[in-house]
Amino acid sequence: MPATSLDTIVSLCKRRGFVFPSSSVYGGLGSTWDYGPLGVELKNNVKRAWWRSVVHERDDMEGLDAAILMNRLVWKYSGHEATFSDPMTDCRACKTRPRADHVFAAQKGRDPKGLAEINAAIEAKEIACPKCGSKDLTPARPFNLMFRTSVGPVDSGDDSGLVYLRPETAQGIFVNFGNVLDTMRRKLPFGIAQVGKAFRNEITPGNFTFRTREFEQMEIEYFVRPGEDEAAHDAWIAERKNWYLQLGMRKENLRVREQEKHELAHYAKRCVDLEYLFPMGWSELEGIANRTDFDLRAHSRSPENPDAVGELKYFDQEQKKHLVPYVIEPSAGADRATLAFLCDAYEDALVKEPPAEETAKLRDLVESFARSVGRREGMAADVKQRLVSAAEAIAAGLPATLPRLIGLMEDGEAGSIEVMKKVRGVGEKIAEEHTRTVLHLHPRLAPLTVAVFPLKRNDARLVELARSLKRDLQKAGLRAVYDDTGAIGKLYRRQDEIGTPWCITVDFQSLEDQTVTVRDRDSMQQERLKAPELATALTSRLA
Ligand code: GAP
Repeated sequence: MPATSLDTIVSLCKRRGFVFPSSSVYGGLGSTWDYGPLGVELKNNVKRAWWRSVVHERDDMEGLDAAILMNRLVWKYSGHEATFSDPMTDCRACKTRPRADHVFAAQKGRDPKGLAEINAAIEAKEIACPKCGSKDLTPARPFNLMFRTSVGPVDSGDDSGLVYLRPETAQGIFVNFGNVLDTMRRKLPFGIAQVGKAFRNEITPGNFTFRTREFEQMEIEYFVRPGEDEAAHDAWIAERKNWYLQLGMRKENLRVREQEKHELAHYAKRCVDLEYLFPMGWSELEGIANRTDFDLRAHSRSPENPDAVGELKYFDQEQKKHLVPYVIEPSAGADRATLAFLCDAYEDALVKEPPAEETAKLRDLVESFARSVGRREGMAADVKQRLVSAAEAIAAGLPATLPRLIGLMEDGEAGSIEVMKKVRGVGEKIAEEHTRTVLHLHPRLAPLTVAVFPLKRNDARLVELARSLKRDLQKAGLRAVYDDTGAIGKLYRRQDEIGTPWCITVDFQSLEDQTVTVRDRDSMQQERLKAPELATALTSRLA
């Protein structure tokens, strides 16, 4: 069973050290997340795979790491100061401030064409506050998404030291176009790639790491001659889609969606979204836009821009004239891609049926838990609703839903209900014996590549051989760990749950002939390989 709710992924991420709520010792900071020991490995592997594919494996790309803080004028001339905003309306009745375009889309069944259309609908009382239903809404106003800060030791109170935390990494690439062109002696077409943090004061962050206020982008600006832009755009759409598929993403979960004219950003001639079927529905994973010559012209000295020091243009040797390149921009989110790979890889399965009387006992307890939550006072309505519907669905589907019960048993809020202790007392043992959770991550993305176990931890010869094998694998550049903290079956289960593709067991035969068992995460098949040849064999499987 793949992950049917984001809660399942959130629960696994917290339980196994992928992602933690940020600043949790002070109660957290809404929609802000920290990547834990396994999460940082996974996300680094996603970024590394992207860099390898778009920089190292191509001859027409360069890399860049521009500063987050940039001259404010960058954002003035890029258009972000004037236009990078969401329309907000205030409900005079309940004092909430919803996003007016979302209210319009939900209630009229289509996206609005602009602020004027939203305000016409507000004035005609055609749309209502999503919280209280009142139609007494103020006209929608744009709310800029850029975070402001100031440079220098004193905040003078005016805007003289104002800078923004960049809302996209792209502008760092545009303003370095001339530097890269000159220093690397590039001819068109060529591109510049960058990975880095971006910040947006999102009005409605949420869905775990899908939409946050601080996130990482993996962006390419690919410069071409005008007229060659449309073919380059199509080529990048195919290339980027293929990247996700090659890293194991299921074809049926990935689709290409053409943005409609009214959705296009102010700079785009055309934009195509790669969408992934997240548990909450089809949502954007990556946008691939044709930004034309908008940005290079915007940052070039002209009557509209007297502040720029020069022009961002290209001397075409063939045509013997200067031209301003067009730009194709594949823009992906590292956090979103990481979340999509996690959702796609997740599977929980019942490996054998528990006895009927155990299932019946557990069902009664889970139903009793749902009733207790329903009666609980002082619990936030959304939490209550989530717990009750999860528990009811689990109770109705047992024993098939046993894997999902694991998530519920580990849910912090569920733990505050007394009867959960009884659910755990019975459920943990049944789940442990009858289920398996696996992350079928591509071996190149998996946080750990290989785990080495001695068959018996109290046999010094097995322990020494296992430890030295682990060291050899580490020296060969593989992410390898040693573990002897449980029985082999339990250790396999732990590694399956975090997506480790291979587990190696050192046993008594290993002492005689230097062979070990290699167990494959997905097929659960075991084979015997020679220990000295292991690093080469596993490295070649990673290629
Ligand atoms: N330079 C173009 C640009 O920034 P975008 O569609 O706004 O385009 C590109 O962002 C990608 O960045 C998105 O497809 C998504 O993967 C990621 N992204 C954007 N906003 C995000 C947010 N608030 N949280 C997480 N990822 C985000």
